[in-house]
Amino acid sequence: MSRLNVNIDHIATIRQARRTNEPNPVSAAVICELAGADGITTHLRSDRRHIQDHDLIALKQAIITHLNLEMAATDEMIEIALRVKPDVVTLVPESPQEVTTEGGLDVLSHRKILRSTVRKLSSAGIFVSLFIDPDIRQIKASSSLGVFQVEICTSNYARLNEQPGDATVRRTGEIEAEARRIRDAARTAVRAGLKVAAGHGLTYRNVGRMAEIPEIEEFNIGHNIIARAALTGLDRAVREMIEAIRRDR
Ligand code: PXP
Repeated sequence: MSRLNVNIDHIATIRQARRTNEPNPVSAAVICELAGADGITTHLRSDRRHIQDHDLIALKQAIITHLNLEMAATDEMIEIALRVKPDVVTLVPESPQEVTTEGGLDVLSHRKILRSTVRKLSSAGIFVSLFIDPDIRQIKASSSLGVFQVEICTSNYARLNEQPGDATVRRTGEIEAEARRIRDAARTAVRAGLKVAAGHGLTYRNVGRMAEIPEIEEFNIGHNIIARAALTGLDRAVREMIEAIRRDR
C-alpha cells in the first residue's frame, strides 16, 4: 500500500501573500496527519517564497509521522538540515525564476557535489532521496551515490494528462508511454536496491495510473490537495487523495 506525504508549502504561500501569520503550516500538517497522511513534505526554497526557517523548526517539533525536507544541495540548506534533522532530505534542483521545480536532478553532471551532500546528511542520520526524471542513467548514477531512495518526477506524465480540451482527443498513447517509462524506471531502481517515491503535478484525476505501479511506495503531493482544500476543507481533501491512491488496490 503506497504512502501519501502531503506537501504543505502552499498553505505558507497563502500566508506569505499577506506576510501575516495565517494560515499556519503546522496546523495544516496536523490536520493532514489526522486525516491519514503518512508524512509531511515541505520545500525550504532559497528565496523563501513560502515555507520559512521557523516553520521548518516548528514542523519538526509538531508532527508525529515523518518529515521530508525538499531542498537544493547548497551549503546554506545543508547547514539547516543538519540543525533541524528531518527524517528524510529530498535533494531537488532549484532555479530562481522557476514557478515550481522543473524536472529532476542531473545526477550524472552533478555527481561530485551530490556525493559530498549525501555523505554529510547521511553521517548525521538523515536518509537522502534524490528527485530524478524517469531515466535509467539517472537511476544508476543515484544508486552509485549510496542514497536509500529516488523520487521519480511525474511532471511530464501529469502535464500530458492535464492538457485542456476534449478528453477523447487526449494523447492517451503518449500518456501510457510515459507511465511505462516511469514503471520501468521504478523497476530498475528497485533492482538497484533503491526505494521508490514519485511526485510532482499529481492530481485526483491522474494518480490512479501511478498507484498501479507496485514499486512506488510513496507519493509526495501538494498543489492539487491544497487547491481542493481551499474549496472542500483540508481533512476531506487529504482523505479523498488517499482514497484515489488506494482505490481497488
Ligand atoms: N516532489 C517534489 C520533489 C517537489 O519538488 C514537489 C513540489 O514541491 C512535489 C513533489 C509536489 O508537487 P505538487 O505540488 O505538484 O504536487
